[in-house]
Amino acid sequence: MSNDNIKIISNPDEVQKISRKWKTEGLTIGLVPTMGYLHEGHQSLIHKSCAQNDRTIVSVFVNPIQFAPGEDLATYPRDLDADAALCASEGADILFHPQPSDMYGEYFSTHVEVDDITQVLCGKTRPTHFKGVTTVVSKLFNISKADRAYFGEKDAQQLAVIKRMVEDLNFDIEITGCPIVREADGLAKSSRNKYLNPEERKAALVLSRSLSIGKQLLDNGERNANVIRNSITQEIKKEQLAEIDYVSIVDSVTLKDVDEKITAPVLTAIAVKIGSTRLIDNFSYTV
Ligand code: PAF
Repeated sequence: MSNDNIKIISNPDEVQKISRKWKTEGLTIGLVPTMGYLHEGHQSLIHKSCAQNDRTIVSVFVNPIQFAPGEDLATYPRDLDADAALCASEGADILFHPQPSDMYGEYFSTHVEVDDITQVLCGKTRPTHFKGVTTVVSKLFNISKADRAYFGEKDAQQLAVIKRMVEDLNFDIEITGCPIVREADGLAKSSRNKYLNPEERKAALVLSRSLSIGKQLLDNGERNANVIRNSITQEIKKEQLAEIDYVSIVDSVTLKDVDEKITAPVLTAIAVKIGSTRLIDNFSYTV
């Protein structure tokens, strides 16, 4: 199957064979790992990869091992034709779209696990999530032989975990984080926004609105993390459809809670359920 000039390949060996050939030809390879249902956030990653590399591979794989039972694996939105069109329009070369059985054979038993920073923030309610992410991302790095890989800063913890893994395990790949892309009204783009009904879509604005209040306080010189966290929390609590999972201000590198004075770069990250949809958002700040 092909959409314009993009090749859609499901077999990991086939992708690896092509990437091996590209490497022998001296070409650089960019990888954009995704779970599909691509939006402008993903598009910005693909755009950057195509600009910085000779070849770009976009993976579209709803990775079952990063979902816990009861999460939205079965309902996660999918639209391969639209994804292929978007990848082709940006000039990507391969859309890698494996089936779970292509990635996890009958005897699959090897996982990659990062300690500590995977157990805070989203890891508190999703304790096995990042093990699934780091395992599949390691496989994607090996299959694609990429020189560079691109991840969105909306998943700030995921980005920190992948950077940790790459450094700890000496992966020969450069990790690039790309800024959050937002709707005109401030809502961070996410494939899961599709789950929101019109009332919830309006309510979801509380994420970006509450973070703006936190950022404003920092801009105005406030340095007490508790004061900032409380202001964000109070704003979210005003929204009846919102249920807070966490509101955290953490050290950008260690992801450890900052409770008192902010003296180093911090990540302010929130996870909020709007109805039954769990959304995340964040901003980074250097004092
Ligand atoms: O961010 C995502 O879409 C996924 O976690 C990733 C990195 C593609 C791994 O499945």
